[in-house]
Amino acid sequence: MHITIERFDPTVAKQCAQLTRLMSAYFPEIGAGDMTPYVPKIVKLIADSVATPRFWAFLGRTDNEYAGFVIAQIDSSESDWNKREGWGFIRELYVAPAYRKRAMARQLVAVVEQAMHRSGALQAYLTTPVPDFWRKLGYSFSGEVYGGNGYKIGEKIL
Ligand SMILES: CC(C)(COP(=O)(O)OP(=O)(O)OC[C@H]1O[C@@H](n2cnc3c(N)ncnc32)[C@H](O)[C@@H]1OP(=O)(O)O)[C@@H](O)C(=O)NCCC(=O)NCCS
Repeated sequence: MHITIERFDPTVAKQCAQLTRLMSAYFPEIGAGDMTPYVPKIVKLIADSVATPRFWAFLGRTDNEYAGFVIAQIDSSESDWNKREGWGFIRELYVAPAYRKRAMARQLVAVVEQAMHRSGALQAYLTTPVPDFWRKLGYSFSGEVYGGNGYKIGEKIL
C-alpha cells in the first residue's frame, strides 16, 4: 500500500469532506459517542486553526482514498488547550480500521513531530488509551494520568 501524507488544506472541498467522514468514525472508537452532528463544527474549528502558525492537521491517503489524520499544536496562551506551554501536543490521531498496521499512523506522527520541532517545540506530549502503540513511536509514560479523560500521558523529546 502506497501511503502519502498531505497537509490539510481547508480550501479543498474533498479534504474537508474526507476529514468529516473520518472524524465521525473516530469519536465513537475512542469512546466519545456519536459526535456526527458536531463534527462539521469541529472541522470548521480545525480549518480556522490551521491558518494559525502553530497548529497542524495532516491527512493520510492511499492510492484510492483518505484513511487517517493527525491534529496537533504547540501549546500557548492563545491555544484553547494550554497545559504545557511551548510543548507540542498531539491532540488526535486516527487511521481507519481497514488501513491499520501498515505504518500510516507512524508516518502521520513523524510528519507532525517534524513540523512541531521546526516551529520550536523541543518536546511533545499526548494523552492516550493506547500507550503500547505510542511506546513504539518513542513516547514514554511515567504513570501520570490526565484527569479529564483518565488517559495516560506520554512524552517524547523531539
Ligand atoms: C492507534 C492507531 C492510530 C494505530 O494506527 P496504525 O496505522 O495501525 O499504526 P502503525 O501501523 O503506524 O503502527 C506503528 C506500530 O505500532 C504498532 N501498533 C499499532 N496499533 C497498536 C495498538 N493498538 N497497540 C499496540 N501497538 C500498536 C504496530 O504494530 C507498529 O509496530 P511495528 O512498527 O513494530 O510493526 C489506530 O489503531 C487507530 O486509529 N485507533 C483508534 C483511534 C485511537 O486509538 N487513536 C489514538 C488516540 S491517542
